[in-house]
Amino acid sequence: MTARQQREVWATKVGLVLALAGNAVGLGNLLRFPRQVAENGGGAFMVPYFISLILMGIPLMWVELAMGRRGGVYGYGTTPGMFGLLWRHPAARYVGALGILITSALVIYYTYIVSWCMGYAFFSAAGTYFGETSQTAMGSFFDGYLGVEKNQYFSGIGAAYFFFVATLLLVVWILSRGVVKGLETLARIAMPVLFVLGVALVARVLTLEPNPANPGWNVGAGLGFIWNPDLSRLGDGKVWLAAAGQIFFTLSLGFGAIQTYASYIREKQDLALTGLAAASVNEGVEVIIGGTLAIPAAVVFFGPMQTQAIASGGSFSLGFLSLPVVFQQMPFGQFFGSMWFLLLFLAGVTSSVAMAQPAMAFLQEDFRLTRPRAALVVGAVMLVLIQPVIFFQRYGFLDEMDYWVGTFGLVVMALIEVILFAWVFGMDRAWGEITRGAELAIPRVFYYVIKYVTPLFLVVILVVWTWQEAIGMLLMRGVVPEAVPYRWGARLLILGLFAAILFGVHKRWGGKPMDEMEHPS
Ligand code: TRP
Repeated sequence: MTARQQREVWATKVGLVLALAGNAVGLGNLLRFPRQVAENGGGAFMVPYFISLILMGIPLMWVELAMGRRGGVYGYGTTPGMFGLLWRHPAARYVGALGILITSALVIYYTYIVSWCMGYAFFSAAGTYFGETSQTAMGSFFDGYLGVEKNQYFSGIGAAYFFFVATLLLVVWILSRGVVKGLETLARIAMPVLFVLGVALVARVLTLEPNPANPGWNVGAGLGFIWNPDLSRLGDGKVWLAAAGQIFFTLSLGFGAIQTYASYIREKQDLALTGLAAASVNEGVEVIIGGTLAIPAAVVFFGPMQTQAIASGGSFSLGFLSLPVVFQQMPFGQFFGSMWFLLLFLAGVTSSVAMAQPAMAFLQEDFRLTRPRAALVVGAVMLVLIQPVIFFQRYGFLDEMDYWVGTFGLVVMALIEVILFAWVFGMDRAWGEITRGAELAIPRVFYYVIKYVTPLFLVVILVVWTWQEAIGMLLMRGVVPEAVPYRWGARLLILGLFAAILFGVHKRWGGKPMDEMEHPS
């Protein structure tokens, strides 16, 4: 039996597009995007955003899909095996370990955040926080929930724990059902519900009536707040980096997750149209739904001045502190509040399973674990590694992980993979991989974009980021002294996870000659 026959494949085209869209559509679309736009020049942000989408996002989407589908043909669902196919050097597998590390570290804290959405969906439906009409009170509610402080709302971490375990069990259960019955079925249910919820909430925000005391705080002003272009910001390098970073994050690129999903695509099935369709769904949800909900609603209730402060306070304060106050002031607020958090939850859970799937594939293929066993191992590791994130929240444990994994690491990964694919494997063969079975003629200009423009773009981002931010982060500039040991703890956790994955890769391939079966080219 060949490797191909043992691997699952997506059952339908629609299911594949929805699964990829579910992978990409996440908290990034609904919480991260609106803040980035509001903070980086409003409508002007969309200029570097769309340029990044076309020169980097879409090309990388095709590269990752092509690399992943090719990996699947030889029985590899993760980047160590895939890189080994592209680059005939023993180091390739170890470099590929990065693709398992990034998703596996991310899934730990991302799933925790998704579980807050589940918790808040319940609190909204039950009206638990209703009556706490200031953002300060909602801040205490949030801190109490997260166990940062004990207060009249929560006496401990119990509720947050409960919702985390519930979310984790759901994720493990879906993973244990496999690609078609688990991931594809989830996407087929969750994505349509997500659209309906999103459109209903958009309609709700667009019909909000301003408070007669502040007639200027209306929906038009809210949309203007997020979208009015400040063209003077276009010369600001930070805005360009923010746009590029958002494209990566929202399309799940540079993580290793798209490759794993692509490894379940049939050898001759289209990638060009599939990738474009999934990216388009993601952009629709991001720009239309994400760009209409949180910020405009905040402007109607708090006015532009305060919204500015809220937006710079972070994604979580916008979603978990400000909007709950908004819901209390609208008719049927409990209903709309639970809709909002359910929307976040569905967007998040389809991304969580996507982040866990590389680890699943690694355990199943390289360690011969059965699917349920692999799902249990993934769940158990997540349960253990989430503990410091939960208990050291106030010391920036999550932020430290998020910087290295969710911001910096993915650019490194993206640069490596595009070099391996376009230069080491060779652009002619790469182009053949991308266009095989294509139901859409990709313009030839993308051949050159992928070969020259995308890598150059990535090098520039990496150099500027290293110089502007990463060195300061590494030296922990501006971190309060008491948080330093915890931030080191976060780094050790990432390094420990990396060591474990490298060890796994070594056990699987180390010292073994590369036979022709693994290198058919
Ligand atoms: N794209 C997701 C979002 O917008 C987040 C994400 C980043 C992701 N990397 C990923 C999801 C890897 C799945 C796999 O929220």
